[in-house]
Amino acid sequence: MKVFHPPKDAIEAAVLKLKKDGVVHPNASFNFEAKSDLRREVTYRDYDLQIRLSNSPNEESIIDTAREMLVSLNLISKDANYSIKAFESFRSEIKEKFTGSWTSITPVMERLLYMLTAVKKPMRMVELGSFWGNTLAWFSGPCIGSHREYTADRIYGVDIDVKMTELAKKNFAKLSNSESVELIGEDAAKALSNIEGPIDFLYLEAKDDNCVNGYLQFLQQAFDKLPSGAWVIAHDSTHHDHKDELKSYLEWVRNKNNFSESISFDIDQFGMELSIK
Ligand SMILES: C[S@@+](CC[C@H](N)C(=O)[O-])C[C@H]1O[C@@H](n2cnc3c(N)ncnc32)[C@H](O)[C@@H]1O
Repeated sequence: MKVFHPPKDAIEAAVLKLKKDGVVHPNASFNFEAKSDLRREVTYRDYDLQIRLSNSPNEESIIDTAREMLVSLNLISKDANYSIKAFESFRSEIKEKFTGSWTSITPVMERLLYMLTAVKKPMRMVELGSFWGNTLAWFSGPCIGSHREYTADRIYGVDIDVKMTELAKKNFAKLSNSESVELIGEDAAKALSNIEGPIDFLYLEAKDDNCVNGYLQFLQQAFDKLPSGAWVIAHDSTHHDHKDELKSYLEWVRNKNNFSESISFDIDQFGMELSIK
């Protein structure tokens, strides 16, 4: 059998394109000497590796380790935890009852979001960019549904897309104990001016072609309503597509004058930043 491989310069051009597209790390190199089919070095920031991390048989232990990190930073007590059984039941319920389109929330991120709320137990939560309610469900999971672990005061989901907000309403109507969820179909800036504080959990994902720097703008607008110790989450914080638009946001939340701590959860190809006021 004969095999034709494209010439070296063609392969190098393809590798360059992979780097440009953020699929492999800028330092990765094609190993022309490699035996068999092992032809490139894998680094942590290799997109293909991250995709596999996002849907991992080790999902539970990844999230346990993330929880232990929060304990070690004194952000939660060592007994704060989530119920694995309640999460599994909630996940089945959401997969069965919710309808919507693709989003960038991966399985490991679903569990991380659920765990974060379970260990923090916020009372007033706000999501900006709630779409059809997918992320809102994952982080509000511990306080809604038939296996809820605690009761929150209010959970707001805001999205400029009125149709998607209607779909989110239909989705949450299928869950028990979801009376605390309020879905608002309007611009985040307008909705934020009407939502009363304190907001002890703010989830940011309002973005599209007309709203590229919304994360920082909305965070600064909400800042005075966030009490000391409030948690702010920004999704897609490590994805190459959002690198430029999130640069100033990440600088701001990592500045100790604004937040006491900021942690990048580099657990899948999208990532999220948790900042503690
Ligand atoms: C990537 S989607 C969010 C995905 C979602 N969090 C999920 O469940 O996976 C971004 C959302 O931000 C919304 N959006 C964009 N600009 C907005 C604004 N100014 N105010 C509120 N929502 C906005 C879009 O309508 C879109 O639904």
